[in-house]
Amino acid sequence: MKTISFSTAFLLIAGLASTGLGAPTTSRHIVARGDDNGDGDYSYGTCSSPIVRKEWRALTTEQKSDYIDAVKCMMALPAIDTANVPGAVSRFDDFQGGHILATEFIHYVGQFLPWHRYFVSVYEKAIREECGWTLGQPYWDWTQDYQDWPGSEIWDPTTGFGGNGVYVDCPEVTVTCLPGGTGGGCITDGPFANITVHIGPADSLDRNDHCLSRDFHSQFPEQYFTPSAMNATMSLPTFDGFRQSLEGLLNDVDHIGQHGSGHGGTGGTMVDLFSSPGDPLFYLHHGQLDRLWWQWQNMNIDERLYEIAGPTRNYTVASPNVTLDYMLDVGVLADQVPIYDVMNIGGSLCYTYE
Ligand SMILES: *[C@@H]1O[C@H](CO)[C@@H](O)[C@H](O)[C@H]1NC(C)=O
Ligand SMILES: *[C@@H]1O[C@H](CO)[C@@H](O)[C@H](O)[C@H]1NC(C)=O
Ligand SMILES: *[C@@H]1O[C@H](CO)[C@@H](O)[C@H](O)[C@H]1NC(C)=O
Ligand SMILES: *[C@@H]1O[C@H](CO)[C@@H](O)[C@H](O)[C@H]1NC(C)=O
Repeated sequence: MKTISFSTAFLLIAGLASTGLGAPTTSRHIVARGDDNGDGDYSYGTCSSPIVRKEWRALTTEQKSDYIDAVKCMMALPAIDTANVPGAVSRFDDFQGGHILATEFIHYVGQFLPWHRYFVSVYEKAIREECGWTLGQPYWDWTQDYQDWPGSEIWDPTTGFGGNGVYVDCPEVTVTCLPGGTGGGCITDGPFANITVHIGPADSLDRNDHCLSRDFHSQFPEQYFTPSAMNATMSLPTFDGFRQSLEGLLNDVDHIGQHGSGHGGTGGTMVDLFSSPGDPLFYLHHGQLDRLWWQWQNMNIDERLYEIAGPTRNYTVASPNVTLDYMLDVGVLADQVPIYDVMNIGGSLCYTYE
């Protein structure tokens, strides 16, 4: 069977983008400092009791069930952003819509990691404050799964997110289908089997009810989540190199990175560059990417706590490089904040990884 990398799907849909938020910048003066209060502790400079984010499998069965209930609560609460996202029905959709609106400004750019760090943190705040979740946003350490992707506990129908979609023939690339997968259709088990995704695919913000789909492609995890592939990314010395290796490169099927592999390995809704937050696993995948960035920062915290680099638009257009002043825009979901404010997860965001 013909194998086409998921980047090809991104390439295909990149031309569909038509909506988006601006990318404002300010001239706010930044004094970069690593150790916020001078006590030699870079981790929790200004926050004394960080929210603890755990790996999915480290949660108790009851906690897993509580988390799933909190996500379902987000799917049941009414949307607040129907002005910008006409098809949004629920609070869960508000976030999917926010990602769609921002998509073309937040991928293959220097602000990729800071923007997604902020976005996941805003989602975490919502599930805690509006839906009763009491811990941190769980993450999915998929390095535990590369040897048996379909066998991962993450897909468990009772203690996980449900499994693969039904097999649907996929002769050529579309927004949510890549040839070579083992599923492609609606998922059939687990807590989200019969949910309705209201917006998408791609950049459509209008009401378009469809199912949550998945399409396992084990070849991406088998290539990118191995110890040697992880080491190759984690040992890169500069932020720009690290970010590109972790994220993957635009329109380059041979470098889809760990970010691309989580999206492509899960497939279906998750492989959609714009609408992937329609799958609740989006937040666990991006939690893991954020955790890896934080680990990378901590490997040389003096140099890396405030290290940022890369263009503000993807390479198809010329753009200034990103700075700590660059404002992260998540639409109506939360206030804009400068990148500076999210560089230290122990600052105003106030969470930690366990
Ligand atoms: C790359 O940037 C261009 C210009 O801003 C945009 O139209 C396109 O959607 C972007 N591609 C991706 C994959 O974000
Ligand atoms: C989903 O809905 C179908 C049709 O109503 C039903 O047969 C199936 O049991 C449901 N699946 C789950 C996991 O709730
Ligand atoms: C990790 O990568 C670095 C840099 O490429 C290399 O020097 C080192 O030997 C690698 N370590 C392992 C355990 O693969
Ligand atoms: C962005 O930074 C790179 C690496 O430091 C540099 O080569 C490039 O000239 C910069 N681009 C702009 C537009 O300033």
